[in-house]
Amino acid sequence: MRLPLIALIASGFSLVNAFSSGRSKPSFARKPKIPLPPAVARSGPVVSRNGTVLPPLNQTFTFQQLKDHTNPSLGTFTQRFWTTSEFYEEGGPIILFTPGETNAEEFTGYLTNETINGQIAQQENGATIVLEHRFYGLSNPLPDLSVESLRLHTIQQAIDDLEYFANNVVLPMPNGGKLKPDTTPWILIGGSYSGALTSWTLVNKPGLFAAGYASSAVVEAILTFWEYFEPERLFMPANCSADVEAVIAHIDEVFMGSDEKAIQEIKTAFGMGDVTHLDDVASALQSNLFDWQSLLLSSDGGLFFDFCDALEVKDGVNAPAQGWGLAHALPAWESFWTTTYFALLCGDDDANDCLGTHNESQSFWTDTSIDNSDRSWFWTVCNFVGYLQVAAPVGKPTLVSRVVQDAYELRQCEMMFEAAFSSPPTPATAEIDRLYAGWNVTVDNLFFANGQRDPWRYSTVSAPGVELVSTQSQPIEVGPGFHCSDLLTIEGTVNDGVLAVQTEGLAAMKRWIAAWKPKPAAVRRGADGDAVQRLATPIL
Ligand SMILES: *[C@@H]1O[C@H](CO)[C@@H](O)[C@H](O)[C@H]1NC(C)=O
Ligand SMILES: *[C@@H]1O[C@H](CO)[C@@H](O)[C@H](O)[C@H]1NC(C)=O
Ligand SMILES: *[C@@H]1O[C@H](CO)[C@@H](O)[C@H](O)[C@H]1NC(C)=O
Ligand SMILES: *[C@@H]1O[C@H](CO)[C@@H](O)[C@H](O)[C@H]1NC(C)=O
Ligand SMILES: *[C@@H]1O[C@H](CO)[C@@H](O)[C@H](O)[C@H]1NC(C)=O
Ligand SMILES: *[C@@H]1O[C@H](CO)[C@@H](O)[C@H](O)[C@H]1NC(C)=O
Repeated sequence: MRLPLIALIASGFSLVNAFSSGRSKPSFARKPKIPLPPAVARSGPVVSRNGTVLPPLNQTFTFQQLKDHTNPSLGTFTQRFWTTSEFYEEGGPIILFTPGETNAEEFTGYLTNETINGQIAQQENGATIVLEHRFYGLSNPLPDLSVESLRLHTIQQAIDDLEYFANNVVLPMPNGGKLKPDTTPWILIGGSYSGALTSWTLVNKPGLFAAGYASSAVVEAILTFWEYFEPERLFMPANCSADVEAVIAHIDEVFMGSDEKAIQEIKTAFGMGDVTHLDDVASALQSNLFDWQSLLLSSDGGLFFDFCDALEVKDGVNAPAQGWGLAHALPAWESFWTTTYFALLCGDDDANDCLGTHNESQSFWTDTSIDNSDRSWFWTVCNFVGYLQVAAPVGKPTLVSRVVQDAYELRQCEMMFEAAFSSPPTPATAEIDRLYAGWNVTVDNLFFANGQRDPWRYSTVSAPGVELVSTQSQPIEVGPGFHCSDLLTIEGTVNDGVLAVQTEGLAAMKRWIAAWKPKPAAVRRGADGDAVQRLATPIL
């Protein structure tokens, strides 16, 4: 049975193939992703505190950004942003946010007090901005996502974009050309990858931002990131984790053995009889686990819990903590997969076309047209950050088949970026951690907010074993939330633990903005910074 799309959207469900674009690979490694605030109409006019009618939140503005900060002579490209001065009063801060690795136009909710961004604006009389990250959406230095173009898609270029934007943008508000970071406090906010970018930027550009707020920030680049599944294993219902482990252990035993008939039986029972490569079958089963990442405290579960219910509720009775065991869980998973889940993942596609990753002619690998966030993000994965979501090492419990190892992911790097890699690459994680400090970050006025249930927690400063100490100038708060829960106002409304994190964040901003001083004129930027851009022009 196929759920209507509208029901999926309502439940916060967002599998990459939800709108079959012909270039999705549903079982492809799931990106870190920032949650959206509840959808409300945002097309109407916005009214400022003194009653002035402001442009609607979805009014798109543009900025001429340098294509290459190492070679400004290459000129500029059009970078999109959205902004509002709803809560702004003279002297207030400018609150800059990028949603990171996605088309940013859905994220205008981050201009409002439905998010921590707007709450900070409301408290501090600030203006909010949502900036689209280079190589996402319609903000592209070059007209495609070919390897040649992607050479400009580095973490340092993205950091330099934030600096150049802050120093040069003319905001569509009174005095909008004079609100530069040396005379006006700027706050940088991010979550997930853009949370890491917030930390990395404060490390790389000391003094530029008055403060930073980094939610679920994946600050440490980690090649083999099997720990992605640890918070899930520890916080999901015990019966469900026990049964998932049991099923995966069994599948691994069969897949790594030589009984071809037994192998084919499992594939067929999951409706993947025609999927040629076993690693793709094993990887596809990760999809159910990836659904954990979309969970929020304010929504009632969604697909992840449908999956657990399918395994654990038998004739209306819940399994005990140790689960029902393999004999029930295996056919129950097969049945959930074939009757419900596969259609959500793949629509009407054939299983091998949808889930197979070995056919290099597929458009998923070859299509270099813009606004393909999977491709842009995978460039960052393959070159810089790794975060490969694979099986736990032997000897540790695993929710993921041990067929899924680094090599499985890195082969796909080569498939997608043939012109860059003649063999599976080694992402430069150590270099990134050295350049931008990773877990060792110590800067002033940076607030870290993390969630215990966040699958990305083990790459944040709240990972087990990280000894970074929470201080007044760099607080680290951990709440009971999922990925980036604290960015959404509603998460604090429904959960006191998240509210406490948000309250600490707001208190830190109050402290830092109150103490902030403009830079003395003598050290302000010279001629370069004085260059005034034409007033940001709306795209119609
Ligand atoms: C309202 O505030 C805006 C700035 O946010 C300012 O430009 C405008 O002059 C103010 N209008 C009145 C009537 O005070
Ligand atoms: C804003 O949203 C409204 C309603 O969806 C739409 O009619 C309008 O064209 C949008 N404006 C812009 C600038 O995108
Ligand atoms: C959030 O902002 C709206 C105006 O956009 C205002 O009406 C509302 O009271 C604010 N919410 C809170 C909790 O202050
Ligand atoms: C067992 O599974 C059910 C259904 O998914 C769940 O509601 C319950 O919390 C689980 N119980 C334990 C102890 O894991
Ligand atoms: C590989 O993909 C191409 C393009 O979608 C398709 O035409 C071809 O049949 C596929 N080859 C195999 C072996 O599935
Ligand atoms: C962090 O600090 C530790 C201890 O000083 C050091 O061994 C490690 O290399 C540092 N890591 C990074 C990413 O700088």
